[in-house]
Amino acid sequence: MERTYLMVKPDGVQRGLIGEIVGRFERKGLKLIGAKLMQVSVERAERHYAEHKGKDFYEKLLQFITSGPVFAMAWEGDQAVAHCRALIGKTNSLEAAPGTIRSDFAVHTNFNLIHGADSLENAEREIAIFFSDDELVSYDKAI
Ligand code: CMP
Repeated sequence: MERTYLMVKPDGVQRGLIGEIVGRFERKGLKLIGAKLMQVSVERAERHYAEHKGKDFYEKLLQFITSGPVFAMAWEGDQAVAHCRALIGKTNSLEAAPGTIRSDFAVHTNFNLIHGADSLENAEREIAIFFSDDELVSYDKAI
């Protein structure tokens, strides 16, 4: 069983797509174990995107992710990291497979609606950046 970190970015929140996006992971069979609407501080954004520091899109990325509220989520399930990445689609919306979130709703790499952790290690690191232990729940699910 894995946990992963997902985040509806400010464009997804502003476009009213939280419900649409959450529903896709629920219908897939993953289990939501933490969620909150929050404003990301610059300090938290820098920790989250540390691996991108120095890249040409880094400053714009920080500016964007702190520009409005995000919907931070922790999910649990078998191979949750890979399953969530598959539902999200590739970073570039033109390369995202039809039926994925980014293919269906995004037209710009910088405004691609949702972040999904790309490895188990990053998932745990990111969950710890955005959630305290008492904000995560544990419950049984039929499947
Ligand atoms: P995400 O995978 O959530 O995290 C890094 C983000 O940087 C990525 O989504 C894009 O929104 C943004 N980005 C902008 N340009 C690029 C690029 N050339 N490669 C990767 N990510 C990029």
